Amino acid sequence: VTSGKVIKCKAAIAWEPKKPLSIEEIEVAPPKDHEVRIKILASGICRSDDHVLEGLKSNIKFPIILGHEAAGIVESVGRAVTTVKPGDKVIPLIVSQCRECQCCKHPNANLCVKADIRKHTGLMDDNTSRFSCKGKLIHNFLDTSTFTEYTVVNEISVVKIDDAAPSEKVCLIGCGFSTGYGSATHTAKVHAGSTCVVFGLGGIGLSAIIGCQVAGASRIIAVDINKDKFPKAKAVGATECISPQDYTKPIHEVITEMTDGGADYTFECVGITDLMVSALKSSHYGFGATVIVGVAPTGAKISLDPMLLLTGRTVKGAIFGGFKGKESVPQMVTDYLTKKINLDELVSHTFPFEKINEGFKLLRGGKCTRTVLTF
Ligand code: APR
Ligand code: ZN
Repeated sequence: VTSGKVIKCKAAIAWEPKKPLSIEEIEVAPPKDHEVRIKILASGICRSDDHVLEGLKSNIKFPIILGHEAAGIVESVGRAVTTVKPGDKVIPLIVSQCRECQCCKHPNANLCVKADIRKHTGLMDDNTSRFSCKGKLIHNFLDTSTFTEYTVVNEISVVKIDDAAPSEKVCLIGCGFSTGYGSATHTAKVHAGSTCVVFGLGGIGLSAIIGCQVAGASRIIAVDINKDKFPKAKAVGATECISPQDYTKPIHEVITEMTDGGADYTFECVGITDLMVSALKSSHYGFGATVIVGVAPTGAKISLDPMLLLTGRTVKGAIFGGFKGKESVPQMVTDYLTKKINLDELVSHTFPFEKINEGFKLLRGGKCTRTVLTF
């Protein structure tokens, strides 16, 4: 029995930016009150992990265990934990849900005030870490940290899912899938028969396409500078694929012409501020809506002509597709099991955990949709 004891296990440590991750033996302390220790079974590699590794997120503290898109099994729970028990299959939540704060009580909000994602302390609520390596404190990432055999999270940052769910697929519901899918179905509320444009065809953009399709969009225009991304975009529901590099005109002019004045909904799934403005300009005068899904480097600013907004366009943004974690994650897992949604196309590579650096190489080279690490 490991309950109540320190667990020694393997984890991928990011000691400093711009260096490969190093697989080390770490110590994982037992969960304290309201905390849950999880044995990770599968974890996807997301662009946001890479943004930190590349040093683009200056507010994130190293050394750190990255990873935030995972599924696992509860190993043990601290005192006062009531919603999960040892043996439960779970997904850690990057968007926590305490159910008591102003946001959790608000029907339209999904970002918990208690676990404020802007803070990035990298520590648990008592300002300590459950991870250490070679005597050094290791920070957590997004209240989850999943590039490790064991992690500890707050009870508000984990939810039980159906035990029958395959971890190496449903782990994507922990971040990438929900983020893209929810931006279409939940944040934009795409309507049947509409025209949608998705910029960026990584795991997030493809998930947005799936959301547009499930919502009944009749045209889904997929945009990427890497044409290798087009076959998969078509496979998940894009009706047309275009590359900005094939045109001399700016891409929003191309799209405006293709769509008789602009799209109903546009989604920026890359994280480039100028592209966010292009997405807005690609939406229709009077009613177009743009959802910002991509995460720009810390401190980056958008510059836009307010006339774009005065003339009836809207810009929205959401983290995790606007979904409340505890409510929506188990539902999406069920929707996957009942085949309402299909995630399988999104997983392009499945590697053993030890090959994590290879997974990051594929991501940087634009060679994968999603790499899932299995433990
Ligand atoms: N125009 C169109 N597409 C572009 C452009 C551009 N100017 N620049 C890059 N892209 C494409 C890339 O070729 C790639 O296919 O955007 C895609 C981004 O995909 P990934 O790198 O796989 O990223 P993903 O995991 O989908 O995340 C996208 O959302 O959650 C955030 O942090 C994440 O900001 C990132 C974004
Ligand atoms: Zn992510």
